Amino acid sequence: MKKLRSIVFPILLSLTIHFFPQIVLQSHASPDDYIRHPARSVIITQHHRSQSDPQQVHISLAGKDYARVSWVTDDKKVSSKVEYGKMPGNYNVMATGENTSYKFFFYSSSKIHHVKIGPLEPGTVYYYRCGGSGPEFSFRTPPPTFPIEFAVLGDLGQTEWTVSTLEQVGNKDYDVFLLPGDLSYADFQQPLWDSFGRLVEPYASSRPWMVTNGNHEIESIPIIIPHSFKAYNARWRMPYEDSGSSSNLYYSFDVTGTHVVMLGSYTDFDVGSAQYKWLEADLAKVDRKKKTPWVVVLLHAPWYNTNIAHQGEGESMRKSMEELLYKAQVDVVFAGHVHAYERFTRIYDNKADPCGPVYITIGDGGNKEGLALQFKEPTSPLSLFRESSFGHGRLKIINETQAHWSWHRNDESNSVLADEVWLESLSTSRECQNILNRQESSSSSSSIICDEL
Ligand SMILES: [Fe+2]
Repeated sequence: MKKLRSIVFPILLSLTIHFFPQIVLQSHASPDDYIRHPARSVIITQHHRSQSDPQQVHISLAGKDYARVSWVTDDKKVSSKVEYGKMPGNYNVMATGENTSYKFFFYSSSKIHHVKIGPLEPGTVYYYRCGGSGPEFSFRTPPPTFPIEFAVLGDLGQTEWTVSTLEQVGNKDYDVFLLPGDLSYADFQQPLWDSFGRLVEPYASSRPWMVTNGNHEIESIPIIIPHSFKAYNARWRMPYEDSGSSSNLYYSFDVTGTHVVMLGSYTDFDVGSAQYKWLEADLAKVDRKKKTPWVVVLLHAPWYNTNIAHQGEGESMRKSMEELLYKAQVDVVFAGHVHAYERFTRIYDNKADPCGPVYITIGDGGNKEGLALQFKEPTSPLSLFRESSFGHGRLKIINETQAHWSWHRNDESNSVLADEVWLESLSTSRECQNILNRQESSSSSSSIICDEL
């Protein structure tokens, strides 16, 4: 019976999505019922541990079966080592790594440690201690097979809204946290990077946090501060080398059947640029059949946006890179930057297209600038749901073909499911395969005609 159910349910789901898409494109409760709240004050998270104890601990994925532990110590003599094991207090493995620090005007950072640990078993809780002293932390590695659940939210900041949004994320289990840019909103005030690291530590030390950068990470002033992303690169080191990237500002990684691409909206993206060439090569290597049926992209400035805020800021990048994503049949593109939630249909080149990615803006984490309240009217038929509220998203990939996306409004102390949709992977979409095959054969026949001429 159980086996029968597991066969019948996915078939019924696919048929429902195909024939009655309006049923699965649900939205719950009218946005008009909700009173939009203003921005709230910044919270400074103090350091209460000793100088040699770790603070700002966070985990990131660092290649197949490896993770990176990052933390900060005021005491510069503390060594960059992590002891870990599968039982609390019993650390049978030790790894050493690297450390760095940076200066920013009169600010000198504390010692920033990065230690790669592994090989690790999937779906397993590891207990660990950083630098030989201080509290024990634990984190869970992603599962070996589907399902996997991503928590997705951008433009986080460190306000009272950030605190409640993160609490709502933490109240329901998930595997990996994805952040499409704008982390601390330190905006040149470097101690705010430290405060942000301490605020997110309970979450970022227990699940991998994979981030890309936004405009608030740039922190450069021509001539005075020529090097951009100084604090971001030192503190939030991502596994760029593993995907062949030469920059911490764009990279990719595989996790549980999903290829996740992190792009840099504020790095050169023109055709022929280093980021463009890397993206082209990275997408060409994706194995949808055997390894990663799902491909997800994150970037900061949205390519599709009907909010008045930040209109057109992602347009140059879209014009340059959209074709690469379309040809690679990317399933979903997440963006931040606009402090609101918006979900589009599948799009390619400003038109609804069953083979284009679903575009989702999720820049509503809770930062100090408040919400982007005004949307353009009338509503574009490409935009299926939009609301100016804080909240967070969850992408649960059920299997090779089906995923569930949901957006949860931060309604004061409550997390309210406000939008949800079932998604079918483009890697198995027959309709899309037929369209792409037709496009390919027509473009190859037109190139034959051109050759003959
Ligand atoms: Fe931004």
